[in-house]
Amino acid sequence: MAKEPSFYITTPIYYVNAAPHLGTAYCTILTDVQARFRRLEGYDVKFLTGMDEHGEKVADAAEEHGMTPQQWCDAQAPLFQKLWKTLEISNDDFIRTTEPRQYHAVQYLWERMEESGYLYKGSYDGWYCVPEETYFTENQVRKSDEASHTEGQHLCPDCGRPLERVQEDSYFFKLSAFQDKLLKLYDEHPDFVQPSFRMNEVRSFVAGGLQDLSVSRTSFDWGIPVPFDRKHMTYVWFDALLNYMTAVGYGLDDSKSKEEYAYRWPAQYHIVGKDIIRFHCVIWPAMLMAIGEPLPEHIFAHGFLTVRNKKTGKAEKMSKSRGNGIDPQEVIDFLGVEGYRYYFMTDVEHGEDCAISFERMEQVYNADLANSWGNLVSRSLNMSAKYFDGKVPTIPEGWKSQDNPLQTIAQGICERYCSHMEKFDYAGAKDVAMELIHAANHYIEDTTPWAVAQDPARKDELTSIILNLLESIRIAAHLMTPFMPTTSAEVLCRLSLEDEVGSDETLATLCEWGRLKGDVPAAKGKALFPRLPKLDR
Ligand code: MSP
Repeated sequence: MAKEPSFYITTPIYYVNAAPHLGTAYCTILTDVQARFRRLEGYDVKFLTGMDEHGEKVADAAEEHGMTPQQWCDAQAPLFQKLWKTLEISNDDFIRTTEPRQYHAVQYLWERMEESGYLYKGSYDGWYCVPEETYFTENQVRKSDEASHTEGQHLCPDCGRPLERVQEDSYFFKLSAFQDKLLKLYDEHPDFVQPSFRMNEVRSFVAGGLQDLSVSRTSFDWGIPVPFDRKHMTYVWFDALLNYMTAVGYGLDDSKSKEEYAYRWPAQYHIVGKDIIRFHCVIWPAMLMAIGEPLPEHIFAHGFLTVRNKKTGKAEKMSKSRGNGIDPQEVIDFLGVEGYRYYFMTDVEHGEDCAISFERMEQVYNADLANSWGNLVSRSLNMSAKYFDGKVPTIPEGWKSQDNPLQTIAQGICERYCSHMEKFDYAGAKDVAMELIHAANHYIEDTTPWAVAQDPARKDELTSIILNLLESIRIAAHLMTPFMPTTSAEVLCRLSLEDEVGSDETLATLCEWGRLKGDVPAAKGKALFPRLPKLDR
């Protein structure tokens, strides 16, 4: 087993009721950037994503398409896997809840739950929202009906869609017994839920009182049976949450799995959307407390990507069930994969909702990537190749300790960048990297290397200018790696620094000033980010 500290990070597992859209992809890229960043920090990362394949919503989608649920899931899985590959998602594992490993872990969970004394048999009579796979009490539904003046049909208090009346035998999890323990957890670990305003929401929800949760269903059969009462199917969320532990060997008896579980669990981060915080910040920790397993360290909740409803003019969540999702391919065609990643990661404040706009994508791409980063790389490499015979200049003694404004900015840049990245403040981290890029572009204007090159007596000066520029590019490429891994690798290769691509060294080491290699080929290459044509939408 690896010696480095483990960093285990997960996305939610996605329902396979429809193809992934920009919102789904957003959550996965957000997690990917953190995983890539932590690998650069030196952690031994395990990054898990996957698919949530049971439940009524998936069974309904299968029926609509004239398939069995399993056939439907098998047809959907490649859509997700292919998209993740295209978007350069670096997950180490991909879990599907229909896999035998999940079946096994869920069986094991039921047995532990039964032993725990927090499980009892009863019957459920209440409301169920199929698109959200969530139970609602009479009280919650009445309140929301009063607020929205609906008559006849009862609507989901969360998503506003029609509810189903459910009456069935069920096992219940004594969630109500965990109110005090959860409040204590939130008090003792104020960063358990991030950002902090989400923690406040969770705390006040729990402080308002908790109801026991129905965790099995008998009126419906697409799920994992309860081992000691097989006409009961596991409630889809009880099944789904466990995926995080299944993937690291929970419930397996062999020594390798036990070792892995001890090494990987608890997870450092579950990344989730704000709509599913109650499941992750209330139900999941309570389940773990019941069975005596360690709790995840942090839950980070992001906001929604929204689109404007053409009828009402209001921003609404992009969603598979609502059918208003934008196909990621549209943005890939527009910005390229790396431009896509850069835009969604650095122009969205990750705890908040964000309205999608192609105009804004164009602005950000042209300003940051085409005009600043891409332009800097192209100008600097062009000048190096032109004035130094296709090469990076030979490095004179003492160059790296010469004073210059770019080195001053590069000093401590990695620490500043990391402190933003660790807080999921990707925009702040990007600003830090951009300081160096903007300063390097100004440095070109200030030092006018094309004029210096006219005078053979100023060759040493020209050498220093070009080296300072190329060194800044090298460092900026490392800082951009989590957002745009392919272009960063390309920049390093153009500097003949292939050995710095995917290197085992930490980001702090890679960002030290003065690692540039001299007298090696400097490749001009094609424009990394060609300017976008004027939008025609
Ligand atoms: N299957 C459950 C999660 C189980 S995790 C143990 C689920 N699936 S989902 O497919 O509906 O949503 C998965 C994630 O995608 C959620 O975190 C949700 O917030 C996110 N998003 C879905 N639409 C989104 C947007 N429009 N914007 C941002 N994220 C969105 O819930």
